[in-house]
Amino acid sequence: MSRTKTTFFCTQCGNEAARWQGQCPACGEWNSLSEELRPRRARAGGASPRTGLPASVPAEPTRLVDVLPGAAERWSTGIRELDFVLGGGVVPGSLILLGGEPGIGKSTLLLQVAARLEEGDHTTLYASGEESAAQVRLRADRLGRGAEHVLFLGETELGSILARSAVLSPQALVVDSIQTAYTDAVEGAPGSVTQVRECAARLQRFAKETGTAVFLVGHVTKGGTVAGPRTLEHIVDTVLYFEGSRSLDHRVLRATKNRFGGVDEIGVFRMSATGLEVVDSPSELFLGERATGVSGAAVVSILEGTRPLLVEVQALCAQTAYGAPQRVTTGFDRQRLALLLAVLEKRAGLPFGNHDVFLNAVGGVRLTEPASDAGVVASLASSLLDRPVPPDALFVGEVGLGGELRAASQLERRLGEAERLGFRTAYVPASARAAVDLELIRVPSVVELVEAL
Ligand code: TYD
Ligand code: MG
Repeated sequence: MSRTKTTFFCTQCGNEAARWQGQCPACGEWNSLSEELRPRRARAGGASPRTGLPASVPAEPTRLVDVLPGAAERWSTGIRELDFVLGGGVVPGSLILLGGEPGIGKSTLLLQVAARLEEGDHTTLYASGEESAAQVRLRADRLGRGAEHVLFLGETELGSILARSAVLSPQALVVDSIQTAYTDAVEGAPGSVTQVRECAARLQRFAKETGTAVFLVGHVTKGGTVAGPRTLEHIVDTVLYFEGSRSLDHRVLRATKNRFGGVDEIGVFRMSATGLEVVDSPSELFLGERATGVSGAAVVSILEGTRPLLVEVQALCAQTAYGAPQRVTTGFDRQRLALLLAVLEKRAGLPFGNHDVFLNAVGGVRLTEPASDAGVVASLASSLLDRPVPPDALFVGEVGLGGELRAASQLERRLGEAERLGFRTAYVPASARAAVDLELIRVPSVVELVEAL
């Protein structure tokens, strides 16, 4: 035991370093290293060092064939989008981390989950170190829908939370937030990397030993000495991130790790006066405030997991006043933009060389799939030539260096979503086949695409 020695942890990624550095060598974050006492080794024997529960009898090895596949059990959280992101509901005994920036709605979502689980006769204990009982009561009143029946515990010492849970044996436990929880078993202030890891590890043991589903709230931090959720990702079973800007009221829930399901589904919510509401048709949200008849806007389709979403991409090309032309993008890769501009210049003869180009994917969406290329090209050409694109047209296809338009995956799904939303035409690669009620305009290359517009 070398309790006097200190060590340095990155509060963003949890990497340990022997000395202080301005930049974390593992994740590259600046100013994120924080000095902490080196954690003590776990004690052997006696009570379980993790949960403080009596040590269990040594485990017996079992042939896998004799193991009952009981893990299929899942509870519905009562919130369809959350069930979907979790891969079909909550798995009992799992540890789920919900990360996100302060104020994004993590506590709101989990209180709603607690209320729904309570409705379905799953007792939930909501332990909060962030807000008082009275504050949570106020939120529960806003939410309505039975939230006031949730059991609240104003406690941050982990041993007490676990002792309470052991007595009450709730089906679900919420710890809001892991950064305010602490345990005397390790040194350091609440929120330090050592503390949050130890607390999460104990909660993981508790979840597995009792079959309780445990939800952790983890605030995303910027630098400083408070450990962020990424330092816990390897300890928990499922990592969910809640994203979206506080100014826009839609929120996207995304799984980045899931031991019990896929990680590519998203759930879209809207923050309303009475809590988070499921958004049934996310495409309508992203296309909501479209100005028609303006040049430079085109609609593309992205796939989030298995779900197609339609998103508007906007381009603005303006004559460069002085110096080198600017290329500014939001939600799109700058290198990819440079490539598409070069292809347009070379193959379709459009003079972007003396124009500043601004490209923006609307609604804070990121366009990462090559299938959005056709739409980006259409918006660029439309802005440069100042001719609006037909508002009811969808663009699908990857652009190759020769200017050719290539097939995109899951074409039928993408076009189906457009059809559902009342689109009439779709510009697709020449090889495209799809049984949809849309006029398909087949364009072999960017030259035909620009001409067709
Ligand atoms: P909160 O769940 O407290 O965020 P977090 O736990 O992630 O820090 O949500 C905070 C914001 O949500 C706050 O600005 C108020 C807003 N809000 C609503 O708009 N409607 C509601 O019904 C509730 C409960 C909160
Ligand atoms: Mg909160």
